Amino acid sequence: MNKLILSIESSCDDSSIALTDVETLEVVEHLKISQESEHSCYGGVVPELASRLHAVDLPKLLEKLKPYFEQIEAVAVTTHPGLSVSLHEGVIMAKGVATFLNKPIIGVNHLKGHIYSLFISKEAITPVLVLLVSGGHTQLIQVDSFDKMTLLATTIDDSVGEAYDKVAKMLNLGYPGGPIIEKYSSLGDAKRFDLPVPMQNSPLVAFSLSGLKNAVRLLIEKLGGVEELSKQDMYDICASFELAVVKHLIQKSKKVFKEVPTKHFAIVGGVSANQFIKSHFKKLCKEFNKELLEVELGYTSDNAAMIGRWAMEAFREGQVDSVESLQVGATKRVEVGSQLV
Ligand code: KG4
Ligand code: ZN
Repeated sequence: MNKLILSIESSCDDSSIALTDVETLEVVEHLKISQESEHSCYGGVVPELASRLHAVDLPKLLEKLKPYFEQIEAVAVTTHPGLSVSLHEGVIMAKGVATFLNKPIIGVNHLKGHIYSLFISKEAITPVLVLLVSGGHTQLIQVDSFDKMTLLATTIDDSVGEAYDKVAKMLNLGYPGGPIIEKYSSLGDAKRFDLPVPMQNSPLVAFSLSGLKNAVRLLIEKLGGVEELSKQDMYDICASFELAVVKHLIQKSKKVFKEVPTKHFAIVGGVSANQFIKSHFKKLCKEFNKELLEVELGYTSDNAAMIGRWAMEAFREGQVDSVESLQVGATKRVEVGSQLV
């Protein structure tokens, strides 16, 4: 019987558990219950509601995996960054299972998990330069190995996913905003509204989305408020917003491409599902002769398989934690030039 790693993800609004084969890296089971519909009416994730739902959903998922318990060699769990009340639910469950089975536990940085979503069911390719774009983060990271990842650039305010979600909220489009804005954009005229490309004239290699978000707010006000907008107005606002986002991401990434010779490049995180953004990065990679690595669509948003995949690297190196010492990590700000921990 093949040995497995059980992995648990509960950092935000997805309860997910996966089983990964230690020998083949194959994802044997991958279960997920998304809370999107419960949070949608609030236009964003409500932490207390998220943690209550994890407490109900995680045990339901674990129950389905009981037949595999004898094969489990280690238990991996997201410890940071994320909503602490949500992370606690996963960590409590991981500690319970690891204690019951008398197996080691592995705490996983959620961002490292997103990066290893590139390597689900396959061996890792490093070094790789990664743009991580999610609901919580917008970062360029040089990944030299599973435990050596250096932050090259980050956002000084909102993340890209957050900006998509907030613009969707302004337009009463529900949560999460990314997929619906992408759909609306494809029907709109991106040239109709001239929205500012963030930090266009700044030499800083950093991201910023809050100014653009406010420009969308002012535009909606200028057009008489959301109630006055036609469907076509909404499509055009979304398209103009998305174009400004892409121009910003490409402009700043280009500066890093010029400096960093790493052959492989990848975009990871929930926003990496966006085909418009991806198509622009495909062109940029071509221009710089870089090879684009892609995350399979089912693994771009939060999931436990990516947590198990990173944990597999740690497990192979014997880097495991003890049940007593493992804790939900404090969300610390990582400085540019420093390593992710
Ligand atoms: O990585 P993820 O699932 O969770 C975090 O770690 O934050 O990312 C969620 C974010 C949300 O902000 C959502 O709106 C965004 O990813 N997203 C997208 C798309 N699909 C999801 N943003 C733009 N275009 C998409 N197609
Ligand atoms: Zn995430």
